[in-house]
Amino acid sequence: TPPIQPFAITFGADNATLEPQGQVLTRRMSDLEGLFADADAWARAVADGDPVVYTVVSSPVPEVPRELPQSITTIQPGLTAGEFWMTKGHQHPDPQGEIYLGLAGHGGLLLFDGERAEWLDMSPGVIGYIPPGWAHRSVNVGDEPYKFLAVYPGSAGHDYGWVLEHGMGLRARRAADSGDLDLVPFG
Ligand code: F6R
Ligand code: ZN
Repeated sequence: TPPIQPFAITFGADNATLEPQGQVLTRRMSDLEGLFADADAWARAVADGDPVVYTVVSSPVPEVPRELPQSITTIQPGLTAGEFWMTKGHQHPDPQGEIYLGLAGHGGLLLFDGERAEWLDMSPGVIGYIPPGWAHRSVNVGDEPYKFLAVYPGSAGHDYGWVLEHGMGLRARRAADSGDLDLVPFG
């Protein structure tokens, strides 16, 4: 691929568009197999319309060494057996830092290094920093779409198997009584 030339991205914080835009990824419930605690509730949601859980719109910057790709993720509000809708979550095989910037809605950034789990509350204007070696998952804990911008090194790569194998340390649930966020040990 030819080198990327300098360019500006017009960044619509309200509708979370990137212009120019690269690839658009759509993750439906069926793409999230093995991630929610209640596998039966997950299967019912897949059978019942297989809703879109999140989309990822990328800038045209490719995921190759030395480049700095960006993307905007939009997670729809929703619950699967009390567990807030979320991204698959991943590790970067070549551990490097990444930043997220909250754009709209209310979410959380769940970080897990294999031993310790951390939760960063995310709302518009908040920058969440993901240190090298921490697996990360985003969660919509609100009633409207949660949107954030991610900026990450192009050589980082994405390992989704790690999360299936090790979990994320915590799960984000809506408490049945209060409706508040409840972070519970992974199980
Ligand atoms: C890139 C990054 C985000 C996520 C996106 C979707 O390194 O962390 O752009 O890729 O939020 O989440 P996953 O990739 O876990 O499905
Ligand atoms: Zn990442």
